[in-house]
Amino acid sequence: METLPLKDMQTLVSLSKRRGFVFQSSEIYGGLSSCWDYGPLGSQLKFNVKQAWWKAMTNRQDIVGIDAAILMHPQVWVASGHVDGFSDPLVDCKNCKNRFREDHADTKDGKPACPQCGSSDITESREFNLMFETHMGPLKDDGSKVYLRPETAQGIFVNFENVQTSMRKKIPFGIAQIGKSFRNEITPGNFIFRTREFEQMEMQYFVKPGTDEDWFESWKETRWAFYKSLGLNESKLRFHPHGPDELAHYAKAAFDVQYQFPIGWQELEGIHNRSDFDLSQHQKFSGKKLEYFDETDKSKFIPYVIETAVGCDRLCLAVLCDAYREEVTEKDGKSDTRVVLGFHPSVAPIKVALLPLSKKAPLQEMSQAIYADISDDMACEYDEAGSIGKRYRRQDEIGTPLCVTIDFDSLDDDSVTVRHRDTMQQDRVSRDQLKTYLKDKLSSFSA
Ligand code: GAP
Repeated sequence: METLPLKDMQTLVSLSKRRGFVFQSSEIYGGLSSCWDYGPLGSQLKFNVKQAWWKAMTNRQDIVGIDAAILMHPQVWVASGHVDGFSDPLVDCKNCKNRFREDHADTKDGKPACPQCGSSDITESREFNLMFETHMGPLKDDGSKVYLRPETAQGIFVNFENVQTSMRKKIPFGIAQIGKSFRNEITPGNFIFRTREFEQMEMQYFVKPGTDEDWFESWKETRWAFYKSLGLNESKLRFHPHGPDELAHYAKAAFDVQYQFPIGWQELEGIHNRSDFDLSQHQKFSGKKLEYFDETDKSKFIPYVIETAVGCDRLCLAVLCDAYREEVTEKDGKSDTRVVLGFHPSVAPIKVALLPLSKKAPLQEMSQAIYADISDDMACEYDEAGSIGKRYRRQDEIGTPLCVTIDFDSLDDDSVTVRHRDTMQQDRVSRDQLKTYLKDKLSSFSA
């Protein structure tokens, strides 16, 4: 048997549509560029990814969560630097009219060239602010202008004092948040990799100045361990340190966690040492003191921030790319391909499929009774349509770790067959042991 990894993004786009993970937004109207809808399995996968992140962040005593509004006071974005500085250099190709980021240009004879047609006849660059603007209230004037937040981080910074005092938190402590962000990207694309509307999972960890470099190192390790726990292949993960020319205006140091997507090594998460930049800026612009008083040594300071920021959609894409494999076997001169999404059970949308061999009572009654017994404890799918071989293949393709087949012998021996996605091994398990068996297999899974 030969095992092949995902060869290109299009294969995943097709599978995602066919199996209900991700659909093009507004498809019946011809679609809306770079916007995607998560279908029944995709939304469950995304929910599981968010839950894993939330648990990793908030199941500890030093981090609490919040859920801030998308619309914020416009001054927030002046203070954060987004109004003046959150822009990309935009250029147009005079030959083919392609519009692209200047830093995405190809090079031809030492000159920047259009990545679409190769022409060097391109316009001077102009700065294009990536924030979406809208208006609050009935008047559309400058006084009513607000922005759709381009990052969730600022909702955390402006609530630093509220959270610290209401939760009586002592430094070091962190605030975690999951929510939508919006960026009017010039060149979105590559499926859900870069979109204009996306979800972020960000955590800001507030520390005493001078301890920031140690915390930065510690968070790098913690975040690596998180990706391992999701079952991601470590050989497809790496750290990329930011050089001085890559550092954001707020960052003292930064590392990306990169994943090797079919489009190459790309940023999955940013880990930044933001120093006291954000809280100092908000203190200056709001006039509200954001200093912390440290009772242990009676010192007063503006905390430094270590930030970990990952896109939920981008992480779902990494999980999908990582899980995809094709198993090709040759038998009697014929080639057969089994497509598998080898998800870690913690993110698999369906954990167990119940597959009765017949739709007729009493097999159906027995199968429904098993479904009722286990579906409260693990996400189950009940499927009685089509041949058992096709049903197994569908479950493999949606990444279900375990299938339970209820056959005619089950009526006599009160046992069922459990089939394992990865090995295709089958075990006969008595019904009274089934729930424990399934829970045990799901929790002891190793990729
Ligand atoms: N608060 C810091 C911040 O927002 P960022 O590197 O701009 O940092 C963090 O974004 C993460 O958000 C990225 O690593 C990426 O996973 C995700 N992200 C950013 N822009 C995105 C987009 N247009 N589409 C999908 N995900 C995006």
